[in-house]
Amino acid sequence: MQRIVSGMRSTGRLHLGHYLGVIQNWVNLQNDNECYFFVADWHALTTKYDNTKDLRQDVIDVVIDWLASGINPEKSTIYVQSLIPEIAELNIYLSMVTPQNWVERDPTLKDMAKILRSKESTNSQISYGLMGYPVLMSADIMMLNANAVPVGVDQVAHIEITRDIVRRFNNIYKTDFFNEPQPLLNHCSLICGLDGNKMSKSYNNDIKISDTEEITAKKIMTAITDRSRLRRDDLGHPDQCEVAFKYWQVFGDNAQVETVKSECEKGIRGCADCKRQLGSLVNQRLHEIRERRKYYEEHLDEVNEIIRSGSEKTRLEAQKVLKEVRNIIGMY
Ligand code: TRP
Repeated sequence: MQRIVSGMRSTGRLHLGHYLGVIQNWVNLQNDNECYFFVADWHALTTKYDNTKDLRQDVIDVVIDWLASGINPEKSTIYVQSLIPEIAELNIYLSMVTPQNWVERDPTLKDMAKILRSKESTNSQISYGLMGYPVLMSADIMMLNANAVPVGVDQVAHIEITRDIVRRFNNIYKTDFFNEPQPLLNHCSLICGLDGNKMSKSYNNDIKISDTEEITAKKIMTAITDRSRLRRDDLGHPDQCEVAFKYWQVFGDNAQVETVKSECEKGIRGCADCKRQLGSLVNQRLHEIRERRKYYEEHLDEVNEIIRSGSEKTRLEAQKVLKEVRNIIGMY
């Protein structure tokens, strides 16, 4: 039984990339591990500090999507980062032991900075807080002295920095208190966006967990297929179908995938029909999740109580760790 911690920034409603790439993994892990999942609202603030009107709603939306997807509050502890002020104090201690060039060479942060600079906005500056992104993440993980962190591939570089910071802390203070956390990757294939790029809200190519069946079906009709195919009875090439066939491979069973493949190759399956079927399949797969989502939307008190009690429990754990850390460093 491992202690597991992971989080997501509160960027609003989640999409299938989050669900298939990360949340499904969490749902499986919660059965035989001690799991803590949190909404990283301070991390959201690193880039959205000047636009906070939706912050509170974004936190709720993320938690509702998790609950809908099968994160079970009886098994996992759900909390909100900013409700655990101990993390901010640990962040200070970690920021002292972290060399500046470790954060400067963080590749994920470099990408974020590039995107920020390309935006025409007043906050294209990289703030001191954003530079501290990987240190704050380390504080999240070390706050509960986690052994493992289930994340998407894009976060692995950050976990590497956390491991470095753990080693450095243990070294400097001659202790073995902190565990070196392992990243846990999901083995499921990554799903691309409807245009073939990485699925992302900012690219406007995503399908949200909370989308209605109609919107889902409509979006899937826009998915890119085999570009060389102009007429319905042209022979198709599933391996060159940029999005639709890949979705079949994620959502369909073997028999369905075989049928789609052979009908496409023979030219007896048009792309529009193919995507109509695909839309129903995706909707079928999401049906139960969306029903659960509706339930929680109508029972917000329950959602808020889950967040409150989870945060309270987490705080008690965090206080134990912080007491030890203050001791190890030799704070007054
Ligand atoms: N950076 C992560 C993301 O963008 C969110 C996150 C913050 C996180 N702190 C973490 C993930 C600690 C795992 C562990 O989704």
